[in-house]
Amino acid sequence: MWQRGRRAKARCPDGEFARPRPRLLAPTCRLTASLQSLFTQQISRFNPVYPMSQRIHNFSAGPAVLPVEVLEEARDNLLSLGDSGIGILEHSHRGSAFLAVYNQTVADCRKLANIPDDYHVLFLQGGASSQFFMVPQNLLQQDQTADYLVTGSWSEKAVKQAKRFGHPHVAASSKDRNFCYIPQTAEYSDKPAYVHFTSNNTIFGTQWASEPNNPSGVPLICDASSDIFCRPIDVRKYGLIYAGAQKNLGPSGVTLVIIRDDLVKQGALDIPEMLQYRTHAENESAYNTPPTFGIYLMGLVFQWMLKQGGLSEIQRLNEDKARPLYDFLDQSTLFRPTADDGSRSLMNVTFVTGNETIDKRFIAEAKAAGFDGLKGHRSVGGMRASIYNAFPAAGVEALVSFMRDFEAAQ
Ligand SMILES: Cc1ncc(COP(=O)(O)O)c(C=O)c1O
Repeated sequence: MWQRGRRAKARCPDGEFARPRPRLLAPTCRLTASLQSLFTQQISRFNPVYPMSQRIHNFSAGPAVLPVEVLEEARDNLLSLGDSGIGILEHSHRGSAFLAVYNQTVADCRKLANIPDDYHVLFLQGGASSQFFMVPQNLLQQDQTADYLVTGSWSEKAVKQAKRFGHPHVAASSKDRNFCYIPQTAEYSDKPAYVHFTSNNTIFGTQWASEPNNPSGVPLICDASSDIFCRPIDVRKYGLIYAGAQKNLGPSGVTLVIIRDDLVKQGALDIPEMLQYRTHAENESAYNTPPTFGIYLMGLVFQWMLKQGGLSEIQRLNEDKARPLYDFLDQSTLFRPTADDGSRSLMNVTFVTGNETIDKRFIAEAKAAGFDGLKGHRSVGGMRASIYNAFPAAGVEALVSFMRDFEAAQ
């Protein structure tokens, strides 16, 4: 295992490593003073002995904060996965050590979300954005219509890609009020191939309270990138769920896809093999080299979620965590939430002061005080506090206290 103090002890006072180094690296010793200081800063910033107490409140929308114990476990396995003598990044995806990781990750995912046996759990690449085209490419024929519930920029992007393969029909949209609410009704088409919705709208801070009432027998497809496993999910209601990992599940570079077997079988055959769900389902996500580190880390996150008490408990924690911030916003005379009550997200809390200059000052002062990533998306402006599963409740309380002081000082 990585020895915590070893690197620090081995350093010379000038910040260079004392270890004998190959001649090729020698020119590093002649770094200019400013480069030298940058180098030293970088080393201390990413050094494993970087003190925990110096981690700041990370409100990033994604990649986002991960549970500290997951990061520590991953750090410990970078040089050797268990006692294998080979780091997690270096294991073959076909070797027994990684296969054990993969099997455990799938098993924990199934346990966590109570995924029925006729659903496949896949780990794909290309981000959630690739699902925008993979879904219609596999499941929408040229003469077919698919219904899309458009609640933000990500759903709009999904519609745009569907146009390449068939006829997307916008069955509901909240664009009329800059996506600040979740539509209550939808006008479904006659026989849609599927209904697609985005369960949480990362940019606009809205979230579906429950699944839309899609027509019976029509597969429901969900982009759950920014709220997957933030609460219990009845997988049976869905044909396909996809989520980029980098918010609630792990690092960027891996996309979780949960897909019912009949949809896998029904998928198009006249498209490249890498783009067929069938290929990945038949090869347990290892048709080509899968994102092994992402799968490993996602597995650690699943274990962490199970340890928290599973999805019901995670929901309780998330609700308790978001409430103080929404309560504060509702009574504030300076800040106001941008999402309608009843449509508010547990994961991304969006708010403004109504004055761009004050917003900017707030973001700058918050950053200086150790609250990072609060700048809202440019299409909404203002602020966004992303408080995914791994974001600690204490961080929200600290933010509310900072906002209260900021307001009082105006
Ligand atoms: C809801 C939603 N869908 C899709 C995406 C795109 O994900 P990716 O960057 O993995 O393609 C994002 C990214 O933030 C998102 O929030």
